[in-house]
Amino acid sequence: MNPSSHSPQQARDGHWVFGYGSLIYKVDFPYRQREVASIEGYARRFWQGSHDHRGTPDAPGRVLTLVPEPDHVCLGMAYLVDGEVFAHLDHREKNGYERRQVSIRLRESDLSVAGTVYFAGQDNPAWLGPADASEIARHIGRSRGPSGSNRDYLLKLARALRELGAEDSHVFELEQYLLQSAGH
Ligand code: BEZ
Repeated sequence: MNPSSHSPQQARDGHWVFGYGSLIYKVDFPYRQREVASIEGYARRFWQGSHDHRGTPDAPGRVLTLVPEPDHVCLGMAYLVDGEVFAHLDHREKNGYERRQVSIRLRESDLSVAGTVYFAGQDNPAWLGPADASEIARHIGRSRGPSGSNRDYLLKLARALRELGAEDSHVFELEQYLLQSAGH
């Protein structure tokens, strides 16, 4: 697919999906178009356990989910994809996530479109929930799974968010703790 040859109006031929975590920097699926985008009323948090990517069943890592937060704007990347892509993403994000419909604001096009996010709620079996930032950073620092270290997940995310110009005190505080504890 050629990402540059489609306009937002062609959303009728595809589906928008909003990435707020690894979907920002790990794009292992075809897309027609992508745009920096945001959703309102949610914040990203390292409150979800990962048994299959950044941890193991015995020692789950900590990865992102979204939590409702009124008025908060969560910046990420939106992709216009064909329906078949969801089979791949559903498999990739199978550990407690479900699809949720949201309104996505496309920054460049200055348009709102209906789309999908992957959301893991408190009632899923892999939910870990909140903890002190220092504890979350230590947890991330010691975790590793089939997709690599949990540390890489956090550092790649922080870099990608900085490139987008996102303000995200949760992620950047964790990054600081992680780098400090590694003696950087
Ligand atoms: C995302 O990058 O949008 C994402 C994060 C966690 C699970 C699924 C998707």
